[in-house]
Amino acid sequence: MQVFTTIKDLNSALRVLIKMGKTIGFVPTMGALHQGHISLINYSKEQCDVTVCSIFVNPTQFNNPEDLDKYPKTPENDKLLLEKAGCDFLYTPSVEDIYPEKDNRKFDFGFLDTVLEGVLRPGHFNGVGQVVSILLEHVAPNKAFFGSKDYQQVMVVKELVKQLNLPVEIISCPILREFDGLAMSSRNIRLNDQERIIASLIPKIMLKASIIVKTQGINESKQFVEEITSKITDMKLDYFEVCDSSSLVILDFYEKTTPTILLIALFVGKIRLIDNLVIE
Ligand code: PAF
Repeated sequence: MQVFTTIKDLNSALRVLIKMGKTIGFVPTMGALHQGHISLINYSKEQCDVTVCSIFVNPTQFNNPEDLDKYPKTPENDKLLLEKAGCDFLYTPSVEDIYPEKDNRKFDFGFLDTVLEGVLRPGHFNGVGQVVSILLEHVAPNKAFFGSKDYQQVMVVKELVKQLNLPVEIISCPILREFDGLAMSSRNIRLNDQERIIASLIPKIMLKASIIVKTQGINESKQFVEEITSKITDMKLDYFEVCDSSSLVILDFYEKTTPTILLIALFVGKIRLIDNLVIE
C-alpha cells in the first residue's frame, strides 16, 4: 500500500492509473478503522481496479470541540488493517492540504438539513459537504463507498454530488454489527465496559420498536423507546424517529407501501451513538 500525505503526490500516482483505463474506488474515513470500514474497502475492491482510502478527521464537521478533540486516533492499527485488506493507496492529508484557505462555502441541502442530525448537529452536514466535495474532486473516483449507519449522511452526499454535478457513483453499503448486534462505530472504543454492555441494548430496542411499528403503530413505538431508554441508567435519548426512507420525511402512521426506516441517536454515558433499521 502506498501512503500519500499530499494531494499533489496522490494525484500524480492516480493520473497514471486513470490513463491506463483503471477504475478508482474511494473510501473516505476519519480513521479509527474497524471491520465496517474494511467492508467498504472490500466492496470497492470487488467493484473497482484501484482502491483509495482517506483518513482525515475533518474539523469543519464537528459542532462540538470536545468531540473533535476526543475523536479516537489509531493510525498504526489503521495502516495494518488497510494493508491486510489489500487497499492500494492511503491518503492522510494535513488540515492545510485539504483547506489551504478557510472554506466559506455554504451548501443548501434543503429539507435533509432540517431533520434528525441536521437539527441536533447544526453545521455538521455543511462540514461533511465541504470535505467530501474536496476529497471527491481530489481523488476523482468512479465510485465512492459510504456506510449506511450514517443513513442521513449518505443522502446528503448523494444530494451534494447531484448539486455539484460530480461524475461519481455513491454506493451505500450495509451496516456491520458486532457479535451482539451493536452497530460498528469508531466511537465504540470510547465506551467503558459497563457502557459497552448498555450500548448492546440499542439494536434490541430497535428490533422491538420495529415490531411495535408494524403491529401497533408509530406513536406506540416512540412511547416504548422513550420509556425504555429513560429507565436505563447512563442512556439518554437524543431522537427516535420513524421516517420514509426515500426522503427522511417523519411519518406519523405506518403504511406497508411506504419504505420505512427507524433512526435513533442517543448518548451512552458521554458517547453519542446512532443506528437505524429498515422495515422490510
Ligand atoms: O463518515 C465519516 O467518517 C465522515 O463523515 C466522512 C464521510 C469521512 C467525511 O469526513
